[in-house]
Amino acid sequence: MVESDAEEARAARSWLENLDFDVVHLGDHAPAFDHLSNRSYDLAVIEMTGGKACDFELLQYITRNLIKTPSIATTSQANSSLGTKALQKGARSFLVKPFSQETLQQYVRQALESQRHAEEAERLARLRRQERHGRQIVGSSPAMRSISDLIASISDASLTTVLLKGETGTGKDLIANVIHDVTFGDAAPFNAINCSSIPPELLESELFGYEKGAFTGAFQSKLGIIELTEGGTLFLDDIAGLPAALQPKLLRFLDEKSFRRVGGNADIKVSLRVIASTNRSIEKLVGAGSFRRDLYFRLSGFPITLPPLRERGRDVIDLANHMIERCARRYGKGIRGISPELERLFLAYQWPGNIRELQNMIERAVIVSEEDVLQTGHFQLDASVLPISNGARGSYPGQDVTLPLGRSLFQEVAYYEKELMERAIYEAEGVKLGAAKLLGISRHAFDRLSKRVCKLTGEDPASVFARSPRTELARIRASKPGNGLKALGAGR
Ligand SMILES: Nc1ncnc2c1ncn2[C@@H]1O[C@H](COP(=O)(O)OP(=O)(O)O)[C@@H](O)[C@H]1O
Ligand SMILES: [Mg+2]
Repeated sequence: MVESDAEEARAARSWLENLDFDVVHLGDHAPAFDHLSNRSYDLAVIEMTGGKACDFELLQYITRNLIKTPSIATTSQANSSLGTKALQKGARSFLVKPFSQETLQQYVRQALESQRHAEEAERLARLRRQERHGRQIVGSSPAMRSISDLIASISDASLTTVLLKGETGTGKDLIANVIHDVTFGDAAPFNAINCSSIPPELLESELFGYEKGAFTGAFQSKLGIIELTEGGTLFLDDIAGLPAALQPKLLRFLDEKSFRRVGGNADIKVSLRVIASTNRSIEKLVGAGSFRRDLYFRLSGFPITLPPLRERGRDVIDLANHMIERCARRYGKGIRGISPELERLFLAYQWPGNIRELQNMIERAVIVSEEDVLQTGHFQLDASVLPISNGARGSYPGQDVTLPLGRSLFQEVAYYEKELMERAIYEAEGVKLGAAKLLGISRHAFDRLSKRVCKLTGEDPASVFARSPRTELARIRASKPGNGLKALGAGR
């Protein structure tokens, strides 16, 4: 506290001590600089005298250098206009003397509170920056490598429009952010808006902004997201859902990089990159007449298609390990990776929700697992989300594979594995070594597999795989009309 009047200083000191502060009182501003550089303070209460004293310099010094110390200015009634200037120099508030104990204490509480908010906001901003920098595209499949090359090549063409295509969860948001980072870096704005989840009228004013009086309720003009993105990246998520009425407006904007606010007649120029994304086929929408062909052409000058996870080969394993590492750190678990069986399952699974689905599953498994390697048993897949029955994928020609609800993927796969093993035993006329050879695995692996399979199907390995081959085949045929084994084989 800097206070030249000894009487007032004594009162203020005792009021601050009542709030549990250790108070250092100085009668003059000059020595305060030394005090402040030697020790940290939770609060500064500085008298503004106007004239000779270096009171404003002191406030400015605190504002610039001591971000953890909020300051309150005090002025005499004769000098009360100095309060406004004190605020400009960074004081949180100013108090006109004489003031009561209650007033001082209330101002102090407010200053500390707003300091806490400022620090929290700063902490969150820092986290977001770190997150942005921590963004990493995992995967070295040829498809992902060429996507990385594409991203590098457009970092120089900073105004080129990019169209990201890919199923949900394939990383469109991530790639849009990475493109922004490599093109503009951290400081430039990145703004995203979802084109199909906002009502059309609202979307228009969100994008383009509006002038005061443009419509009832427009009491003030408002900047649209386009204007706010000057010098950065505008991410138009789910562009296929852009309402028909807005399509020509967006086209004009993309062609001219200029637009008008709703209700305005001035053309406003901006310089920014647009990245659009879609998980639907825009070509089809163009064919059906619900998406303008010219806009589609304008958007797709630089298309990037993100392949579904099931087409990225071993990327799924790299991604799983990457996510396990991150999750294990977050939850303080010592998990190192996944078991070979789980790896096989991950490679075979269709991943309808792509990387987001993988991420959710890993997170859940890491939380529940007590082992150091994730096992098939840690994953409870809901069979109803399996897309295998989807004829469009064409994996199981001639057979309508339907999955019984309530059975996990792993149980379901176990039943198929069991059938394959039984079939192999039949072909090998009951000789397990021969059956193992037919399946391309060792005799030892055959035994291990039969144990695991039976654990999942709830049967006894000794009896299941020791039945007479011929009755066995008859049983298989009876239980599964329509030759399930061949169909399964064809699907591989
Ligand atoms: N190649 C990748 N490497 C690492 N994480 C990824 C990758 N692709 C996607 N992700 C993560 O998967 C999640 C879903 O991706 P997202 O970009 O939101 O997909 P989309 O926008 O296509 O639905 C996000 O958490 C994202 O960080
Ligand atoms: Mg997305």
